[in-house]
Amino acid sequence: MSAPEVRIALHEVSHAYRQGARRVQVLEGVTERFHAGEFAVLLGRSGSGKTTLLNLLGALEVPERGEIEMLGHRLSSADEASRAAFRRQHVGMVFQSYNLVPTLCAWENVALPLTLLGIPLAEAYPRALEELTRVALAELADRMPDQLSGGEQQRVAIARAIVHRPPILLADEPTGNLDLETALDVVARLVEVVRAHGITLLMATHSLEVAGHADRVLRLQGGRLVAAPPP
Ligand SMILES: Nc1ncnc2c1ncn2[C@@H]1O[C@H](COP(=O)(O)OP(=O)(O)OP(=O)(O)O)[C@@H](O)[C@H]1O
Ligand SMILES: [Mg+2]
Repeated sequence: MSAPEVRIALHEVSHAYRQGARRVQVLEGVTERFHAGEFAVLLGRSGSGKTTLLNLLGALEVPERGEIEMLGHRLSSADEASRAAFRRQHVGMVFQSYNLVPTLCAWENVALPLTLLGIPLAEAYPRALEELTRVALAELADRMPDQLSGGEQQRVAIARAIVHRPPILLADEPTGNLDLETALDVVARLVEVVRAHGITLLMATHSLEVAGHADRVLRLQGGRLVAAPPP
């Protein structure tokens, strides 16, 4: 059997923020690999750097030191335009606060990653609807985000994050605002797509119940990523 494909590789990644005169060291020499088809959960106390790490992997920020390789591309040395292009094509992101475009209805939100990739609406619309059907929201396809509950908005956000089948999916506390039952339902739907398409899913969460569904659990502690025993 061949070794699983490495999708994300971090080499000695360090990152700090400046808060006035203070320097806050958030990540300190993080080295880790994530493979195709892997669902890894990121635990860690509030402020431990989970969002920072996901933002670095989503190429929203560049690490102060170290190297990040995504699908074999060295992201740290790429300029902003190529990082944005990489993200559009290869990365799906789900945020705790959903981040739906308030002026677009549910299906238009889901179709957005496709239209940004130049796919015509005639093709993007049915694909968006199919994705909304998967998260059991086809009937609400024409609703605006403010007419949807938190759980429904998060399911739209998940549909949007995976509609273009990115090889890498980053989810930052996607279930943080949901009750446990809805949270586990949302995670189950995510895991189904991830498994079906061999997507690499990295999810930050505070929920041990959610972590129970992962292949691997890691904890951010003192700026380092350490293997955590399964909950
Ligand atoms: N843009 C920024 N400027 C300055 N400091 C920041 C910035 N973003 C994050 N920090 C600091 O970096 C540290 C890590 O923050 P981060 O948001 O990554 O933590 P987290 O693990 O995601 O926490 P939570 O579980 O609360 O979401 C915190 O001390 C935070 O105050
Ligand atoms: Mg966070």
